[in-house]
Amino acid sequence: MDERDAAREQAWDAIAAVERQSLATLFEREPDRLSRLVVEEAGLRFDFAKTHLDAALLPAFVGLAEAAGFAARRDALFAGDIVNPSEGRAAEHGAERGEGAPESVARARALHARMRALIDAIEAEALGPIRHVLHLGIGGSALGPKLVIDALGREADRYDVAIVSNVDGAALDEVFARFDPAATLIAVASKTFTTTETLLNAESALAWMEEAGVEDPYGQVVALTAAPDRAIAWGVDETRVLPFAESVGGRYSLWSSIGFPAALALGWDAFETLLEGAAAIDRHFRLAEPMRNAPLIAAFVDLYYSSVRGAGTRAVFAYDERLRLLPAYLQQLEMESNGKSVTADGHPVGRDTAAITWGGVGTDAQHAVFQLLHQGTRLVPVEFVAAIEPGHALDEAHHRQLLVNAFAQGAALMAGRPHDDPARAYAGDRPSTTILLDRIDPARLGALIAFYENRVFAAATLLGINPFDQFGVELGKEIARAIEDGSTAGFDPSTRALMARAFG
Ligand code: F6P
Repeated sequence: MDERDAAREQAWDAIAAVERQSLATLFEREPDRLSRLVVEEAGLRFDFAKTHLDAALLPAFVGLAEAAGFAARRDALFAGDIVNPSEGRAAEHGAERGEGAPESVARARALHARMRALIDAIEAEALGPIRHVLHLGIGGSALGPKLVIDALGREADRYDVAIVSNVDGAALDEVFARFDPAATLIAVASKTFTTTETLLNAESALAWMEEAGVEDPYGQVVALTAAPDRAIAWGVDETRVLPFAESVGGRYSLWSSIGFPAALALGWDAFETLLEGAAAIDRHFRLAEPMRNAPLIAAFVDLYYSSVRGAGTRAVFAYDERLRLLPAYLQQLEMESNGKSVTADGHPVGRDTAAITWGGVGTDAQHAVFQLLHQGTRLVPVEFVAAIEPGHALDEAHHRQLLVNAFAQGAALMAGRPHDDPARAYAGDRPSTTILLDRIDPARLGALIAFYENRVFAAATLLGINPFDQFGVELGKEIARAIEDGSTAGFDPSTRALMARAFG
């Protein structure tokens, strides 16, 4: 164990040694909790007051950040240094929104200019009378644009966008039934341009166009990728390949050309404002002192419950239909980044890393899963995400009831309620955080997503793990390839029997 590891272990010991107090006691003893544990930034209010972070735990976690060399690691991230050692790469999603090494920011701006020029050309009908956009990508090449378009594009009528990720033909079929092939633009989104699901979907989309008599289907294809040569070799004309840097990770790539369908659907100005909102949180993350740094404090909360108190999951509930895809987006961001067992230098981490992220929308979830949150045996830290302004013109009673419910659930989880009948008793002391947006617009949504990205980076740094690789997804892909290549030998009898039953 080197000196840094030893200092880190000491810091963890100090955290574990902090006396545990109930939330109710903490509110009694710490009348300044709101001024210390609520951070307002970029139109978002982050309320950590109903967590067990207290006057002793917060400095103990700041001690862990110091022991982990957090400030230097964060500077290295934004300087474009190698922060992904297993793949020998920087992680330059910040540069996409203007927060990074000057040469990386300049490169990102040049690539954005190219994206904008292609969008202008599409708007000017240089590729024909495009009305529909079929975006094909999976994981990080789909979830970000999907979330943004779903959240912000409800009134946008510029283009009808469908984002298809699953290789299940049923997903594409449904889109083929409603899109006009002659008026459809296909955006093939793949960082590596090797992902089998995306490429098969793209081939099927081209076949659909050909069958419908479209003269030059490839003329209606654009590629969004960090492997432009592969896209060109696959058949996309160079002028319609929108590259992004290899150093932008897939699940962090919304800000690059992967955001193309969002920029097309919402308009370029909205896309730029999304980037600006993200940049505002990046600056906050870079410059705010640890005790007032929202992504860092959120990482403290996450680690306190997952690594110290043994919470296996964390639940995120969007009390806003426009954010209904947020839990799915966060599942990839958090679990693919921090679902690791070894440190960046290859040693066992020695404690639990990322909790399983799950969630849903309020108030629906209250009538389905909240029973367990209130009375189950498991500790589940809950996160409520809501916006002050509604996204509709219906009677204000709707939005009021929505917000009242979000606040009531947090209060109930914390307060609990004793009862003579054990079945009716609530233990309380259950933690929650609340993120309240002024409104859901491009700037605030960009800020929200960047907050989560930086939170994940902060948690990884405190744990000493690399959040930017994802080798855990490879083995299953390799086995699928081997089976496709006709080799079932060597696989277990159960897998062989399933193959035989399904394919004869
Ligand atoms: O298999 C996981 C993964 O590599 C993700 O990290 C990524 O977002 C997704 O697949 C899609 O990859 P690509 O953009 O290269 O098609």
